[in-house]
Amino acid sequence: MQIVILKNAAEVAAYGADIFEKQLNRKAESVLGLATGSTPVALYQNLIEKNKQGGISFKDAVTFNLDEYLGLEGTHPQSYRYFMNEQLFNHIDINKDHTHVPPGNAKNPVEACQEYEAQIAAAGGVDVQLLGIGRNGHIGFNEPSSGLTSRTRVKTLTKETIDDNARFFGPDEYQPHLSITMGIGTILDAKKVVLLATGENKAEAVKATVEGPLTASCPASALQLHRDAVIVIDEAAASKLE
Ligand code: F6R
Repeated sequence: MQIVILKNAAEVAAYGADIFEKQLNRKAESVLGLATGSTPVALYQNLIEKNKQGGISFKDAVTFNLDEYLGLEGTHPQSYRYFMNEQLFNHIDINKDHTHVPPGNAKNPVEACQEYEAQIAAAGGVDVQLLGIGRNGHIGFNEPSSGLTSRTRVKTLTKETIDDNARFFGPDEYQPHLSITMGIGTILDAKKVVLLATGENKAEAVKATVEGPLTASCPASALQLHRDAVIVIDEAAASKLE
Protein backbone atom coordinates (compact mmCIF):
# COMPACT_ATOMS: atom_id res chain seq x y z
CA MET A 1 0.00 0.00 0.00
CA GLN A 2 1.45 3.35 -1.01
CA ILE A 3 0.31 6.37 1.03
CA VAL A 4 0.54 9.81 -0.56
CA ILE A 5 -0.20 12.74 1.77
CA LEU A 6 -0.84 16.09 0.07
CA LYS A 7 -1.75 19.53 1.36
CA ASN A 8 -5.38 19.80 0.36
CA ALA A 9 -8.26 18.37 -1.65
CA ALA A 10 -7.21 20.19 -4.84
CA GLU A 11 -3.79 18.52 -4.78
CA VAL A 12 -5.40 15.14 -4.12
CA ALA A 13 -7.66 15.58 -7.16
CA ALA A 14 -4.76 16.66 -9.39
CA TYR A 15 -2.60 13.73 -8.25
CA GLY A 16 -5.43 11.27 -8.90
CA ALA A 17 -6.14 12.78 -12.32
CA ASP A 18 -2.46 12.40 -13.26
CA ILE A 19 -2.67 8.67 -12.56
CA PHE A 20 -5.60 8.41 -14.99
CA GLU A 21 -3.82 10.57 -17.55
CA LYS A 22 -0.75 8.33 -17.48
CA GLN A 23 -2.92 5.24 -17.72
CA LEU A 24 -4.85 6.53 -20.76
CA ASN A 25 -1.68 7.68 -22.49
CA ARG A 26 -0.09 4.28 -21.92
CA LYS A 27 -3.18 2.35 -23.04
CA ALA A 28 -5.89 4.21 -24.97
CA GLU A 29 -8.35 1.33 -24.57
CA SER A 30 -7.99 1.28 -20.76
CA VAL A 31 -10.75 -0.14 -18.60
CA LEU A 32 -11.40 2.45 -15.88
CA GLY A 33 -13.26 1.73 -12.65
CA LEU A 34 -15.08 4.86 -11.50
CA ALA A 35 -16.77 6.10 -8.34
CA THR A 36 -19.41 8.66 -7.41
CA GLY A 37 -19.82 10.75 -4.25
CA SER A 38 -18.33 14.16 -3.61
CA THR A 39 -14.65 13.18 -3.42
CA PRO A 40 -14.02 12.33 -7.12
CA VAL A 41 -15.82 15.40 -8.51
CA ALA A 42 -12.69 17.59 -8.55
CA LEU A 43 -10.69 14.75 -10.14
CA TYR A 44 -13.35 14.48 -12.87
CA GLN A 45 -13.08 18.23 -13.46
CA ASN A 46 -9.33 17.79 -13.92
CA LEU A 47 -9.95 14.98 -16.43
CA ILE A 48 -12.50 17.09 -18.34
CA GLU A 49 -9.95 19.90 -18.56
CA LYS A 50 -7.17 17.55 -19.74
CA ASN A 51 -9.57 16.14 -22.34
CA LYS A 52 -10.50 19.62 -23.58
CA GLN A 53 -6.83 20.59 -23.83
CA GLY A 54 -6.16 17.43 -25.87
CA GLY A 55 -3.87 15.86 -23.25
CA ILE A 56 -6.02 12.73 -22.99
CA SER A 57 -8.72 10.98 -24.95
CA PHE A 58 -11.43 8.61 -23.74
CA LYS A 59 -12.41 7.59 -27.28
CA ASP A 60 -11.26 4.01 -26.82
CA ALA A 61 -11.72 3.78 -23.05
CA VAL A 62 -14.28 1.60 -21.29
CA THR A 63 -15.64 2.40 -17.81
CA PHE A 64 -17.32 0.45 -15.03
CA ASN A 65 -18.79 2.22 -12.04
CA LEU A 66 -18.65 0.72 -8.61
CA ASP A 67 -22.26 0.93 -7.62
CA GLU A 68 -25.80 2.17 -8.13
CA TYR A 69 -28.94 2.57 -6.05
CA LEU A 70 -31.36 -0.26 -6.62
CA GLY A 71 -34.79 1.11 -7.49
CA LEU A 72 -33.72 4.23 -9.38
CA GLU A 73 -33.84 4.66 -13.16
CA GLY A 74 -30.68 6.05 -14.76
CA THR A 75 -32.64 9.21 -15.57
CA HIS A 76 -33.33 9.89 -11.87
CA PRO A 77 -31.22 12.87 -10.72
CA GLN A 78 -29.96 10.94 -7.68
CA SER A 79 -28.97 7.86 -9.65
CA TYR A 80 -25.27 7.26 -10.07
CA ARG A 81 -25.75 6.89 -13.86
CA TYR A 82 -27.17 10.42 -13.94
CA PHE A 83 -24.33 11.65 -11.71
CA MET A 84 -21.68 10.16 -14.01
CA ASN A 85 -23.27 11.65 -17.12
CA GLU A 86 -23.44 15.07 -15.47
CA GLN A 87 -20.06 15.05 -13.76
CA LEU A 88 -17.96 13.38 -16.45
CA PHE A 89 -19.36 11.52 -19.45
CA ASN A 90 -21.30 14.44 -20.99
CA HIS A 91 -18.13 16.53 -21.07
CA ILE A 92 -15.55 14.13 -22.53
CA ASP A 93 -15.06 12.31 -25.82
CA ILE A 94 -16.16 8.92 -24.47
CA ASN A 95 -18.57 6.63 -26.31
CA LYS A 96 -21.48 6.32 -23.83
CA ASP A 97 -22.01 2.73 -25.00
CA HIS A 98 -18.65 1.98 -23.41
CA THR A 99 -19.72 3.31 -20.00
CA HIS A 100 -21.24 0.89 -17.52
CA VAL A 101 -23.08 1.58 -14.28
CA PRO A 102 -24.88 -1.30 -12.49
CA PRO A 103 -28.54 -1.20 -13.59
CA GLY A 104 -30.61 0.29 -10.78
CA ASN A 105 -33.77 -0.63 -12.70
CA ALA A 106 -32.89 -4.31 -13.16
CA LYS A 107 -35.94 -6.62 -13.23
CA ASN A 108 -33.77 -9.43 -11.93
CA PRO A 109 -31.04 -7.78 -9.81
CA VAL A 110 -29.32 -11.07 -8.95
CA GLU A 111 -28.86 -11.90 -12.63
CA ALA A 112 -27.84 -8.31 -13.34
CA CYS A 113 -25.00 -8.63 -10.82
CA GLN A 114 -23.67 -11.75 -12.52
CA GLU A 115 -23.99 -10.03 -15.89
CA TYR A 116 -22.01 -7.03 -14.59
CA GLU A 117 -19.17 -9.32 -13.46
CA ALA A 118 -19.24 -11.03 -16.88
CA GLN A 119 -19.04 -7.66 -18.65
CA ILE A 120 -15.99 -6.63 -16.58
CA ALA A 121 -14.31 -9.95 -17.35
CA ALA A 122 -15.15 -9.69 -21.07
CA ALA A 123 -13.56 -6.22 -21.15
CA GLY A 124 -10.36 -7.76 -19.79
CA GLY A 125 -10.69 -6.59 -16.18
CA VAL A 126 -10.31 -3.13 -14.67
CA ASP A 127 -6.93 -1.42 -15.20
CA VAL A 128 -7.34 1.35 -12.63
CA GLN A 129 -10.12 1.46 -10.05
CA LEU A 130 -10.96 4.78 -8.39
CA LEU A 131 -12.39 4.65 -4.86
CA GLY A 132 -13.69 7.01 -2.23
CA ILE A 133 -14.22 5.83 1.32
CA GLY A 134 -17.19 6.07 3.70
CA ARG A 135 -16.74 7.26 7.28
CA ASN A 136 -17.36 3.65 8.31
CA GLY A 137 -14.64 2.38 5.96
CA HIS A 138 -16.98 1.27 3.17
CA ILE A 139 -15.74 1.09 -0.41
CA GLY A 140 -18.34 0.98 -3.14
CA PHE A 141 -21.41 0.08 -1.08
CA ASN A 142 -19.51 -2.69 0.70
CA GLU A 143 -20.53 -1.84 4.20
CA PRO A 144 -18.74 -3.16 7.31
CA SER A 145 -19.03 -6.97 7.59
CA SER A 146 -18.99 -7.38 3.78
CA GLY A 147 -17.13 -10.50 2.72
CA LEU A 148 -13.54 -9.73 1.74
CA THR A 149 -13.88 -11.93 -1.35
CA SER A 150 -17.40 -10.74 -2.25
CA ARG A 151 -18.45 -10.17 -5.87
CA THR A 152 -21.00 -7.80 -7.42
CA ARG A 153 -24.24 -8.22 -5.50
CA VAL A 154 -27.25 -6.54 -3.90
CA LYS A 155 -26.36 -4.85 -0.60
CA THR A 156 -28.44 -3.15 2.07
CA LEU A 157 -27.06 0.24 3.07
CA THR A 158 -26.32 0.96 6.73
CA LYS A 159 -28.17 3.73 8.55
CA GLU A 160 -24.91 5.72 8.72
CA THR A 161 -24.52 5.63 4.92
CA ILE A 162 -28.20 6.43 4.32
CA ASP A 163 -27.88 9.41 6.69
CA ASP A 164 -24.61 10.56 5.06
CA ASN A 165 -26.19 10.45 1.61
CA ALA A 166 -29.51 12.00 2.66
CA ARG A 167 -27.98 15.41 1.80
CA PHE A 168 -28.38 14.56 -1.89
CA PHE A 169 -32.14 13.83 -1.62
CA GLY A 170 -35.02 16.26 -1.19
CA PRO A 171 -37.11 16.02 2.03
CA ASP A 172 -39.98 14.21 0.23
CA GLU A 173 -37.81 12.27 -2.20
CA TYR A 174 -37.60 8.47 -2.04
CA GLN A 175 -34.12 7.40 -0.90
CA PRO A 176 -33.28 3.79 -1.68
CA HIS A 177 -31.88 1.54 1.06
CA LEU A 178 -30.59 -1.06 -1.38
CA SER A 179 -27.79 -0.96 -3.92
CA ILE A 180 -25.94 -3.03 -6.46
CA THR A 181 -22.21 -2.84 -5.76
CA MET A 182 -19.05 -4.42 -7.02
CA GLY A 183 -17.79 -6.71 -4.27
CA ILE A 184 -14.52 -6.34 -2.40
CA GLY A 185 -13.16 -9.29 -4.39
CA THR A 186 -14.20 -7.52 -7.61
CA ILE A 187 -12.36 -4.35 -6.51
CA LEU A 188 -9.25 -6.31 -5.51
CA ASP A 189 -9.14 -7.83 -9.02
CA ALA A 190 -8.37 -4.39 -10.52
CA LYS A 191 -4.75 -4.12 -11.62
CA LYS A 192 -4.34 -0.82 -9.77
CA VAL A 193 -6.52 0.78 -7.08
CA VAL A 194 -6.51 4.49 -6.24
CA LEU A 195 -8.40 5.54 -3.10
CA LEU A 196 -8.95 9.25 -2.49
CA ALA A 197 -9.93 10.68 0.89
CA THR A 198 -10.09 14.27 2.00
CA GLY A 199 -11.23 16.04 5.14
CA GLU A 200 -11.06 15.32 8.84
CA ASN A 201 -14.29 13.29 8.84
CA LYS A 202 -12.42 10.58 6.88
CA ALA A 203 -9.38 10.50 9.22
CA GLU A 204 -10.67 7.64 11.39
CA ALA A 205 -11.55 5.47 8.36
CA VAL A 206 -8.18 6.21 6.76
CA LYS A 207 -6.39 5.20 9.96
CA ALA A 208 -8.32 1.92 10.11
CA THR A 209 -7.59 1.29 6.43
CA VAL A 210 -3.86 1.91 6.67
CA GLU A 211 -2.94 0.94 10.23
CA GLY A 212 -5.79 -1.17 11.47
CA PRO A 213 -6.01 -4.93 11.20
CA LEU A 214 -7.24 -6.47 7.97
CA THR A 215 -10.91 -6.88 8.87
CA ALA A 216 -14.37 -6.96 7.36
CA SER A 217 -15.27 -4.32 9.98
CA CYS A 218 -13.34 -1.87 7.80
CA PRO A 219 -13.87 -2.98 4.18
CA ALA A 220 -11.16 -0.63 2.86
CA SER A 221 -8.56 -2.47 4.96
CA ALA A 222 -8.82 -5.22 2.32
CA LEU A 223 -6.66 -2.96 0.15
CA GLN A 224 -3.75 -4.08 2.36
CA LEU A 225 -3.92 -7.27 0.27
CA HIS A 226 -3.57 -5.44 -3.05
CA ARG A 227 -0.15 -5.26 -4.65
CA ASP A 228 -0.73 -1.87 -6.30
CA ALA A 229 -3.02 0.20 -4.07
CA VAL A 230 -2.37 3.93 -3.69
CA ILE A 231 -4.08 5.90 -0.92
CA VAL A 232 -4.09 9.60 -1.83
CA ILE A 233 -5.16 11.81 1.09
CA ASP A 234 -4.95 15.38 2.27
CA GLU A 235 -3.41 16.45 5.58
CA ALA A 236 -6.81 16.51 7.31
CA ALA A 237 -7.62 12.92 6.31
CA ALA A 238 -4.09 11.90 7.38
CA SER A 239 -4.37 13.64 10.76
CA LYS A 240 -4.99 10.45 12.80
CA LEU A 241 -2.17 8.40 11.26
CA GLU A 242 0.64 7.43 13.66
C1 F6R B 1 -19.51 5.94 -4.52
C2 F6R B 1 -19.06 4.98 -3.53
C3 F6R B 1 -18.92 5.33 -2.08
C4 F6R B 1 -18.25 6.67 -1.83
C5 F6R B 1 -18.16 6.96 -0.33
C6 F6R B 1 -17.56 8.31 -0.05
O1 F6R B 1 -19.55 5.32 -5.80
O2 F6R B 1 -18.85 3.90 -3.90
O3 F6R B 1 -18.18 4.31 -1.46
O4 F6R B 1 -16.98 6.67 -2.40
O5 F6R B 1 -19.43 6.88 0.25
O6 F6R B 1 -18.42 9.30 -0.52
P1 F6R B 1 -18.01 10.84 -0.53
O7 F6R B 1 -16.92 10.98 -1.53
O8 F6R B 1 -19.25 11.56 -0.94
O9 F6R B 1 -17.55 11.16 0.85
